[in-house]
Amino acid sequence: MRSAVFRRSFKKSFPSAVRGEGVYVWDSEGKRYLDFSGSAAVNLIGHGVGEISAAMVEQAKQLEFVHTSQFTTPVAEEYARDLIEFAGENFRGGAVYFTCGGSESVETALKLARQYQVEIGQAKRHQVLSRTQSYHGSTLGALSVSGNQRRREIYLSMVREFAHVGIPYCYRCNYDCTDGCRNCGQEYAAELERAIESSNGQAAGFIFEPVSGATLGAVVPPPGYLPKIAEVCRRQGVLLIADEVMTGMGRTGRNFAIEHFGEKHEGVAPDILIAAKGLSSGYAPLGAVIATKRVVDGIASGTFLH
Ligand SMILES: Cc1ncc(COP(=O)(O)O)c(C=O)c1O
Repeated sequence: MRSAVFRRSFKKSFPSAVRGEGVYVWDSEGKRYLDFSGSAAVNLIGHGVGEISAAMVEQAKQLEFVHTSQFTTPVAEEYARDLIEFAGENFRGGAVYFTCGGSESVETALKLARQYQVEIGQAKRHQVLSRTQSYHGSTLGALSVSGNQRRREIYLSMVREFAHVGIPYCYRCNYDCTDGCRNCGQEYAAELERAIESSNGQAAGFIFEPVSGATLGAVVPPPGYLPKIAEVCRRQGVLLIADEVMTGMGRTGRNFAIEHFGEKHEGVAPDILIAAKGLSSGYAPLGAVIATKRVVDGIASGTFLH
């Protein structure tokens, strides 16, 4: 009999997972799995951490949900403060918008970038540029800025698309590099600048994964690329949106992956930073959009239309 769960695949049978502890998951037959991938880069602190479920039970007993149009909560306030601190100096004085996951955070960031531009008097700016090999989520807005061909194909007629620029992927570099791709980052950054210029003043933001994830496993950009991208965006009035759903929360060895590119070089200081996955390690559906003080102050009307 077919499962009542609308599964990812009707062709495959899935083991039934019943328990987890640390790096292991057990199925209903008692078989143990070493969860090398942490689901899909989600369970950063491991399965079955008792401290977390105990805290969740306590909170659920106190209060399960209130609407953000009516209340704030001490836990949301505390977590937002912690996250801003965790995100570092660039985000001091900024604010965090909580969501239910990565895709929703990307949608939120796209809309925030648009509203920011409208409110600072740049109403023409509505395009969010992105990169050809990229993954930003499953919803339609996220799909429009993603580059995975197969995941996009049949839905393309439903989405509004803006320019996708090349990505420095040195194994298959678009440029004729003879130096092991040490300098082609500048060429790719120049591609972005040309795309922004061709948008005729309509570019609102640029979204990127600092280290490529789902669509190009763990590809680290060449030296100088991200600082140059950041500089181009700053100069062109385009908001820099770092999607750290996969790379954030310590997954690359720093709190956020952009920090790897920020010390020696000019610095990569995104205007908006997106986190999910490891943010809650799978214990709750949770995402966050962390905005700098400049972006939050830009919403001068006082209401985020979202
Ligand atoms: C970089 C990036 N952005 C966004 C998403 C979407 O996140 P979610 O699956 O939580 O909606 C993912 C998921 O893999 C991702 O890797």
